[in-house]
Amino acid sequence: MTPLSLSDTDPADLVVDAIVVGLHTGDSETAKVGDPLLAPGAESVAAAFDGQLARTLALLGATGALGEVTKLATLGSVSAPVIAAVGLGPVPPDGDDGVAPDTLRRAAASAVRSLEGAAKVTLALPAPDGHGSGPALRAIAEGALLGTYRFAGYKTKPQPGRRNPVRAVSVQVPNARDKTARAEIKRAAVVAAAVARTRDWINTAANDLRPPTFAAEVAKVATEAGLEVEVLDERALKKGGYGGILAVGMGSDAPPRMVRIAYRPQASKGGRASVALVGKGITFDTGGYAVKPAQGMWEMKSDMSGAAAVASTMIALAVLRPKVAVTAFIPMAENMISGTAYRPGDVVTMYSGKRVEVLNTDAEGRMILADAIARAGEEDPDYLLETSTLTGGQIIALGKRIAGVMGDADLCERVRRAGDRAGEPAWPMPIPDDVRKGMDSDVADISQVNAGMDRAGHMLQGGAFLREFVAEGLPWAHIDIAGPSYNSGDATGYWSKGGTGVPVRTLLELIDDIAANG
Ligand code: BES
Ligand code: ZN
Ligand code: ZN
Repeated sequence: MTPLSLSDTDPADLVVDAIVVGLHTGDSETAKVGDPLLAPGAESVAAAFDGQLARTLALLGATGALGEVTKLATLGSVSAPVIAAVGLGPVPPDGDDGVAPDTLRRAAASAVRSLEGAAKVTLALPAPDGHGSGPALRAIAEGALLGTYRFAGYKTKPQPGRRNPVRAVSVQVPNARDKTARAEIKRAAVVAAAVARTRDWINTAANDLRPPTFAAEVAKVATEAGLEVEVLDERALKKGGYGGILAVGMGSDAPPRMVRIAYRPQASKGGRASVALVGKGITFDTGGYAVKPAQGMWEMKSDMSGAAAVASTMIALAVLRPKVAVTAFIPMAENMISGTAYRPGDVVTMYSGKRVEVLNTDAEGRMILADAIARAGEEDPDYLLETSTLTGGQIIALGKRIAGVMGDADLCERVRRAGDRAGEPAWPMPIPDDVRKGMDSDVADISQVNAGMDRAGHMLQGGAFLREFVAEGLPWAHIDIAGPSYNSGDATGYWSKGGTGVPVRTLLELIDDIAANG
């Protein structure tokens, strides 16, 4: 993990490879029309350019638009050889808390990514000081580290011309010894490591990460982190009656697993609340007998994004040690086609005892999640948070960036707010009665999807199905991350290419919220 530090040395004097400064779009009242404005933090660097820095950047085409990066050779005017000016958009209105944290997070990531090849970089962005400094500093630090992520990949030869991610980052602050500031960058390092771990697992080829190996790897890192770990193999799953996990998983030569990981706060600190986390771990989703089209099927190696996020969240908790007890239940299976695969029309007796009529083998996520959710409910947690790449319908409804949240209305709203703070947008969605009604089965307790295979609003069908397995009275939220968990396009801001690590930051934010407010 890239080392991250605080610096209160004048950036103009720092021996680094590049200084990142912020740039706002200019407006006609405060600047020459079109000229961008340097953001606070850049004062000493600007002074070294005799007040010509903004003008020079403008001549190079800089406008201050969000995420834009303009690089300039300093030719000795400051110690660093390069300045990278990153766009922060318009100047925040007076009286606001300054630049929005998420803008800083994005800008920091874009700047650091654009500096690949540099060893040491310092970020002199709008000075996070005084009231409200926490969120700004957290965002800058997280953004910078997320911008250094790169998947190792499988290439057998080094790539000529490929520059390495930035090796060390410092963030300029008024006082590098400030305790809150130090706590923030420590937290950012743990969070970014959790996101990177999630991304790595998602980006790993599905032939390299099948349920037994995924479970073993998760168990290994969780054990090393000092967490309590239990892995149920196919025999244990059979003995336990996990019908949903087995139905999906037994079509593969690589049999299913369920990993349970527990984090307990120090007894003396008196953990007030308890949370259960559940994440979908389909290591590859062919669709089964409802086979998916070949085009894009390879992206279904990311169908374990929920599991990866939950496991990485647990590992982060072992370091962050919030005052909340958290237990994760991570079902893992590979949805394949074979002589032992489940079929449309099968009726499956689930862990909860409910019987499900399978209508579409591609709706496998809810089968394994239902068992994990029912199992989690037995431990009587105060909240249940489940996350999964559950439906293509989520992408149709909310797009590639915004997760859909269903369940208890208050908890959904807390997920939305946590996601907002974390830079992982999520939006509450309903579970209408008629959608549930449409899933009534002629032969079993419930159909897995709409009985007439009507795909209208099918993200909501996922929520309606999972709700059947949530313990009575338990506040729960289902976070459908089909879109935001994976970026098929190029990296932008803190959105890496491939696995994104959503919703690790949301889960960690929300657990902090629960630790503070119950
Ligand atoms: N893993 C998919 C959902 C998915 C689609 C995730 C695209 C990421 C990108 C899931 O198992 C699935 O296939 N869902 C079906 C549900 C349908 C059969 C009710 C879908 O979305 O079409
Ligand atoms: Zn599927
Ligand atoms: Zn799936």
